[in-house]
Amino acid sequence: MSESVHTQDLPMDPESEGFTRRGFVKYAIGGVGLAYACAIGYPIYRYLNSPVEESMAMAAVKEVTLPDADKLPKGSALVFKFGVKPALLIHHPDDSWTALTAVCTHMGCTVAYDPGKTKIVCHCHGGTYDPKTGENLSGPPPRPLKKFDVVMAAGSVTVKRI
Ligand code: FES
Repeated sequence: MSESVHTQDLPMDPESEGFTRRGFVKYAIGGVGLAYACAIGYPIYRYLNSPVEESMAMAAVKEVTLPDADKLPKGSALVFKFGVKPALLIHHPDDSWTALTAVCTHMGCTVAYDPGKTKIVCHCHGGTYDPKTGENLSGPPPRPLKKFDVVMAAGSVTVKRI
């Protein structure tokens, strides 16, 4: 009697409990298919999300209007986005204005305007630029910063690609 209870507690046929060889193979094939889809899909995602796409998005932007930027005090700068990249609008102490890309030409760090030194500085490796022309002055940057046109209006400043 106790033997018959024992055989009822332990199923001898695994298929009766839903654990089948066919089911296992189905899940294994599904897992392999998912891994294969990821192996193909990830490079495609990386290609579509590449810097080339970013630069194309940047090239599509022709101008940016900055509301109230005309009130920027002399000797200070405003960081803004031109497309997907940071840019600088500088109001110089002599009341002139300059807009430049804020991406260092050395290794792509974001540069900043230093009003004390009246230079644009890159804190990554110490590169400096002229804040009026964007010319690379010292350190590792190989090229000047790209310059934009600045159009002043009452209540805004428009920065345009040259
Ligand atoms: S990234 Fe700017 S100096 Fe190196």
